[in-house]
Amino acid sequence: MTDRIHPVRCDARHLPFESSSVDLSVCLHGIRSLGGPENLVTILREMLRVAPRIILAETLPVAKNDAQQAHLAMYNLRHEVFKMAYGRQDDLPYPSMDTLVALVERAGGSVEASRALEMDLPHALAHFPRALIEEVPDGMERESLLRRWDEADALAQRFGTDHPPVSLVIAARA
Ligand SMILES: C[S@@+](CC[C@H](N)C(=O)[O-])C[C@H]1O[C@@H](n2cnc3c(N)ncnc32)[C@H](O)[C@@H]1O
Repeated sequence: MTDRIHPVRCDARHLPFESSSVDLSVCLHGIRSLGGPENLVTILREMLRVAPRIILAETLPVAKNDAQQAHLAMYNLRHEVFKMAYGRQDDLPYPSMDTLVALVERAGGSVEASRALEMDLPHALAHFPRALIEEVPDGMERESLLRRWDEADALAQRFGTDHPPVSLVIAARA
C-alpha cells in the first residue's frame, strides 16, 4: 500500500495535478479550515478540475442531544475568541448541508448524493482554556465570552461532548 501513497504538500487553491488526472478528490473535515467562501469555492473548483468526482465530509452545526450541543457550544466560541484575542481567525463555524451544496454548485459541481451521518463518537477537541478569553481587550465582550465559556464547559461536564452528525456530499462536474 505505501508504494501507492504519495504525500504532496501544497496550497489546495493550486493543486499541482493535471486536469482530470485522478478519479476522485476527497476533502474530509477540511472545509472548516479553508478560510471562507471565496477560498472554498476556489478549492472546490480545483478539486473538480483534477477529478470528475469529489467527496466532502464535514461536521454539521446540528445537535441531536445535549452532548452534541456541548461540543457545538464550545466550538462556536472559538471563532470569536481567537479573532478578538489574537486578531487571527480559527476554523470557521461548521457549514450546514445547504451551505455546502451551494458552495459546490458555485464551484461548478452538481451534487449527486448528500446525507447526514451519525457518528456515535466522543468529540472533546473543541475545548480550549478559559484563560485565552482573558486576552480579549474589550471588557464587556470578555465578560460575555467568559459567561458563554462557563455555560459550554458546564454542559460538557454534565453531558460529555459527542460528535455532531457529519455531512457527506458526493458531487460531479456539472
Ligand atoms: C481540520 S484539518 C483536517 C486535516 C485532514 N483532513 C485530517 O483529517 O487529518 C484542516 C487542514 O487544512 C489545512 N489547510 C488550510 N488551508 C489550506 C490550503 N489553502 N491548502 C491546503 N491545506 C490547507 C490546514 O493546514 C489543516 O491541516
